Amino acid sequence: MNPSPKPAWSRLGLGTGTLASLGRAASLSEVNRLIGTMLDIRVTVIDTADSYGSGDCECLLGKALLGKREQVVLVTKAGYRHSHLKGPLRPLNQLVKKVLHRVGKRQQFEPSYLSACLDRSLSRLRVEQLDAFLLHDPPVEVLTDERVIRLCKDLKQSGKTIFTGVSSADPVVLRSAIVSGAFEVIQTPANLNAAATMQPIWRDCEANQIHLIGNHVFDPACLSLRDMTHEKLMRATAKLLPFQSTILCGSHNPIHLRQSHQWATESLADCDLLS
Ligand SMILES: NC(=O)c1ccc[n+]([C@@H]2O[C@H](COP(=O)([O-])OP(=O)(O)OC[C@H]3O[C@@H](n4cnc5c(N)ncnc54)[C@H](OP(=O)(O)O)[C@@H]3O)[C@@H](O)[C@H]2O)c1
Repeated sequence: MNPSPKPAWSRLGLGTGTLASLGRAASLSEVNRLIGTMLDIRVTVIDTADSYGSGDCECLLGKALLGKREQVVLVTKAGYRHSHLKGPLRPLNQLVKKVLHRVGKRQQFEPSYLSACLDRSLSRLRVEQLDAFLLHDPPVEVLTDERVIRLCKDLKQSGKTIFTGVSSADPVVLRSAIVSGAFEVIQTPANLNAAATMQPIWRDCEANQIHLIGNHVFDPACLSLRDMTHEKLMRATAKLLPFQSTILCGSHNPIHLRQSHQWATESLADCDLLS
């Protein structure tokens, strides 16, 4: 029997940045409902990171995706330090992460560390392969480190990930990632405030056939603009980003996910954007 074909990257993606956050973590049944809605409206992309909930977010997704792996495009990231305490000590992970970040040990991009992170993500997500493994807000030196570039190549060759990529809000970092030719996926902020600095990057991604993922669409600073709504922000972002890109919606609410999907797939007319 032929393996089932990989799903295409959808226009909207589910952002999971707060799904396992302290104080507002979603239950497994809530995540099951979100994923059920996602699949119902043919949203395929799920964006997560090993540091979201110190691994708890990937664990939740791993449970919710049992039997559904083939229907989703799974993107995770690594680079922020967090702790991996198990069993009864697990609730301390989020606290240890905050302490590590506070004492300046926020990030780590040594190849051996990144490689171990990817293995742990595969295990938490209960999958054998990622669709994309992204460096999470790396400093620019990481993108000229030959050892990191070699690691990215090796991870793809090993089959542990199909693509590698970079997530960043820094145009210098993103430019360096594009020039390196080592990455097939780039994630950037994609709200109206970010557009001024990010648009040249988005165009370069399109020209270099790099798949673009836009995040932080509902930036509170944008939402506080006069007469601004979630609908306008999502439609405007969909108008600005290349047609083939994915726009993330970070939501716990299946109704919001459906609305955002509708807005992302029907962008604003040019005149509406300027008014
Ligand atoms: N450095 C990085 O790599 C990075 C940085 C930022 C974000 N990200 C990724 O991008 C994802 C999204 O970004 P974000 O966390 O900044 O969140 P966002 O998508 O910009 O905004 C999320 C907020 O919007 C609300 N919302 C969503 N759809 C809505 C709708 N239709 N109507 C009204 N409210 C709606 C959500 O509330 P409800 O839960 O009530 O729907 C939530 O409070 C993250 O989850 C993460 O996966 C990555």
